[in-house]
Amino acid sequence: MRKKIVAGNWKMNKTFSEAEILITDIADALDEVDLKGAEIVLCPPAIYLEMAMDVAFESNFKVGAQNIYPEDSGAFTGEISPLMLKQLEVSYCIIGHSERRKYFQESNEFLQRKADALLRHKITPIFCCGEVLPERESNKHFEVVKQQVEESLFHLPVEAFKNVVIAYEPVWAIGTGVTATKEQAQEMHAFIRGLISKKYDEKTAAGTTILYGGSCNGKNARELFSQPDVDGGLIGGASLKTDEFIQIATSF
Ligand code: 13P
Repeated sequence: MRKKIVAGNWKMNKTFSEAEILITDIADALDEVDLKGAEIVLCPPAIYLEMAMDVAFESNFKVGAQNIYPEDSGAFTGEISPLMLKQLEVSYCIIGHSERRKYFQESNEFLQRKADALLRHKITPIFCCGEVLPERESNKHFEVVKQQVEESLFHLPVEAFKNVVIAYEPVWAIGTGVTATKEQAQEMHAFIRGLISKKYDEKTAAGTTILYGGSCNGKNARELFSQPDVDGGLIGGASLKTDEFIQIATSF
């Protein structure tokens, strides 16, 4: 049975004191609810990871980073390595987010290195893929997602691939308030699972967690998560409000 996950991608938000309050509020709220076996992951800015870990050790959530550089150490000013995350005992790291592809020109090939670097340290990559609006409008969305997944992940041997989480985030749905319909999400998730099955095997495909991201909120999460191939969500804006995030986390 594959894992259900709700991960909050805080992006570049919250001051130190706001972050402290949000993390502890979420931790307290998680104590009171039935997650039905789902795993909750908080991905705050890197500067708050240690604080988040301090709370996570005593609570019912895991911590993820939003980015790494794919080397353990070296002259890479401003970057953070997977070895550093490992030492903090961070469990997950988002890679391939569309904002990093757009603003930092991250290519599928570069993301391959990030996946390798994380897996070497047993940190689970949350690999984001998804098409922009013109690609969907010209019916290229399957082709685009296929290329992203193949070029960044399909070099992995099957045992390594089993430790990868995929997040389908149609770029036109991110931060826009326009969510993919449950049919659009299901169709793409099933397509991605089919790619995994063809490349590896059916068991690996059935065991891979595939999250949906893009304007997922307290109102639409249940409908999206009820789809057979949607195993949870990668949540942006709605992960910054305790009540709404908890509502999403309990939408299975
Ligand atoms: P929103 O939930 O704000 O649309 O962002 C989604 C996202 O980019 C998560 O990584």
